[in-house]
Amino acid sequence: MVASLLVLALASMSAATFINVLNDTFQDLSNWKMMVRYSVNSGNKEWQYYTNRSNNVYITQVNGQNALILKAIQENYLGANFTSGRVYSASSWGPYGFFNVKAIVPKGNGIWPAIWLLPPNSRSIYGNWAACGEIDIMETICTNTAGYATLHFGGESPNTASAPSNNTYPFIADWSNAHWYGVDWQPTYMSFWYDAQIVNGVITGGNLISSISSSSWYSVNTTTGQRYPGNAPFDTPFNIVLNVAVGGTWPCSRPGCCSNIAAPAQMTVFNVQVWQNAQSEDQL
Ligand SMILES: *[C@@H]1O[C@H](CO)[C@@H](O)[C@H](O)[C@H]1NC(C)=O
Ligand SMILES: *[C@@H]1O[C@H](CO)[C@@H](O)[C@H](O)[C@H]1NC(C)=O
Ligand SMILES: *[C@@H]1O[C@H](CO)[C@@H](O)[C@H](O)[C@H]1NC(C)=O
Ligand SMILES: *[C@@H]1O[C@H](CO)[C@@H](O)[C@H](O)[C@H]1NC(C)=O
Ligand SMILES: *[C@@H]1O[C@H](CO)[C@@H](O)[C@H](O)[C@H]1NC(C)=O
Repeated sequence: MVASLLVLALASMSAATFINVLNDTFQDLSNWKMMVRYSVNSGNKEWQYYTNRSNNVYITQVNGQNALILKAIQENYLGANFTSGRVYSASSWGPYGFFNVKAIVPKGNGIWPAIWLLPPNSRSIYGNWAACGEIDIMETICTNTAGYATLHFGGESPNTASAPSNNTYPFIADWSNAHWYGVDWQPTYMSFWYDAQIVNGVITGGNLISSISSSSWYSVNTTTGQRYPGNAPFDTPFNIVLNVAVGGTWPCSRPGCCSNIAAPAQMTVFNVQVWQNAQSEDQL
């Protein structure tokens, strides 16, 4: 009885309230590192060379506000036909909390923008991707209107798994204007949000994209094949990642998507917010 009351009390406390720990409005790039990599040999066989040049990654004013621009360009560069920008947070965050990014997201042939979370170097105590986990808040490809929110987990590649089985946003997102793309990352569930914001410490407004129970995810020890206990792999710190990819296995699997590439194309990021759970983690 006492135990179940305690569980109830903790459950109601974990209807989380949040404290802001990062509110980046891009006065500078001090919270970010730039990836420099030709991606054609990456798992997704993307076409772009990510550079740290100001052609691909820069801050400018948009509608009177500072914004981070990640820009895909068609140009010959060190063997690649396209360049683009990918940044990751200089610090790791979590586990747990609310992560929210306000951005204008590009659409078009061959263009694959993403707002996501990934452990440093795609690796954690649980192993390499996807045993380390990946939290994709927003992805979109090609000219169709669909958005996707996905968790990747399971074993190391190729023994990966993902959830939910239908990862398509259950509404048509407005890709022409700035919107908030967020995830409420908790020990027992992961909820993806569109246009929600934290007001007075609680999630306010917006559309719920999906909610995934921790019973849906797992991580497998590559050596023993055994599942790790608890809510692995989503109980370690992750980096925030923002990028615009060009080409790659997924978009180019769609008829017509990878001809007449819609470059230049840019993601315009106005604000990145990280909110920690107000309770200490051992209360959750
Ligand atoms: C984030 O910074 C902007 C610009 O300074 C400010 O308007 C906003 O209130 C801040 N939000 C939080 C949660 O601190
Ligand atoms: C850009 O990347 C190159 C190649 O990794 C590196 O040598 C250079 O220091 C970087 N410059 C900046 C400003 O980060
Ligand atoms: C770059 O474009 C040329 C011309 O379309 C093509 O032949 C070549 O394979 C492309 N290179 C890469 C690395 O995709
Ligand atoms: C995976 O299993 C091996 C063999 O038992 C063990 O040595 C290793 O520590 C395990 N990895 C982790 C991250 O627990
Ligand atoms: C997946 O979600 C989309 C958007 O709500 C919906 O149109 C589609 O029918 C769903 N597909 C399945 C297989 O449930």
